[in-house]
Amino acid sequence: MSVQTSGTIRLANVDDIPEGQGREFRVGERFVALFKHKGKVYAMEDVCPHAGAPLNNGPLYGGTVTCLWHGWKFNLQSGLCTNLPKAPPVSTYPVMVQGEDVYVTLP
Ligand code: FES
Repeated sequence: MSVQTSGTIRLANVDDIPEGQGREFRVGERFVALFKHKGKVYAMEDVCPHAGAPLNNGPLYGGTVTCLWHGWKFNLQSGLCTNLPKAPPVSTYPVMVQGEDVYVTLP
């Protein structure tokens, strides 16, 4: 049996992600972080482009998540690093919430 690892995938129940926090979900070999900020769900690759730390457990503030290892900050919407403009961005993914189901579209 094959498991879907790209395209639009139901990843979580909206209540699985507490407001102001992130959670990690595994899709095949890939780790995806879902965050909830002001009631909206955001998705990004759960691997910091600096040195590979998980991002899901970083603190959220003002729509950014801070990597716990060295403090790079990433915008939840764009994935751009907000405190080091020349740093590489983290991949973000489109999110759709239908009822209580959170769908993420992965490349
Ligand atoms: S691993 Fe994330 S800032 Fe260094």
